[in-house]
Amino acid sequence: MKALVIIFAVLGFLITVAAGLAYAGLYDVAADEPHWGITRGFIASTRERSIARQSREVGTPPALDDPALLAMGAEHYDEMCVSCHLAPGMGENEIRAGLNPRPPKLAERGIRRSPEQDFWIIKHGFKMTAMPAWGATHDDHSIWAMVAFVQKLPGLPRTDYDALVAQGRAAGHSHEGSEGHSHEEAGTADEHSHEDAEHHHDH
Ligand code: HEC
Repeated sequence: MKALVIIFAVLGFLITVAAGLAYAGLYDVAADEPHWGITRGFIASTRERSIARQSREVGTPPALDDPALLAMGAEHYDEMCVSCHLAPGMGENEIRAGLNPRPPKLAERGIRRSPEQDFWIIKHGFKMTAMPAWGATHDDHSIWAMVAFVQKLPGLPRTDYDALVAQGRAAGHSHEGSEGHSHEEAGTADEHSHEDAEHHHDH
């Protein structure tokens, strides 16, 4: 009983100190400031435990070797993922160096994840990292297509990569529909801000 009281008192003290440091602005959230080893370890094990548990809810995968599904996944990957995860034979770019955590090169992925785990990751993304929740804009079928492709990606020769992407484009899995729309919106927003800027100039 006495031990319990001491444990809670110490815990309470530590939580108060942590909250005080955070409130004082002493925790540095800068992306170019590396995590402490202990923080990195805590984040990594939290992520792995979470993926393992949450992905249990994912249903049975469709046939992932379906060529049409793979081609669709290739097209999606090439459109949406290469800026962060690169593609076979691709050099570094200007965004990856500044990301914390750095996105893994999926064509060289060492660890093997189950299709259910990849599905969960791609659909829901990761909090406090650059990994988006693609489920916000894509149905489950498109996400399984990306899973099929990502599972195929490690060691895939560049020529096969290009062929699959071309196949996906030819099959009409293009991003014109949704992207055209958002470009239009961005265009309108831009025009507005330009107008505003000119307005300010005049005065
Ligand atoms: C803006 C950058 C960004 C984009 C775009 C992006 N990702 Fe990620 N992704 C990340 C980051 C960062 C991580 C690593 C997060 C971590 O280590 O906690 C990640 C992790 C992953 C992982 C888990 C890797 C592993 O085994 O731990 C998969 C799978 C993945 N992304 C798939 C995709 C797919 C598929 C797309 C495109 C539809 C995509 N990502 C687009 C940033 C991105």
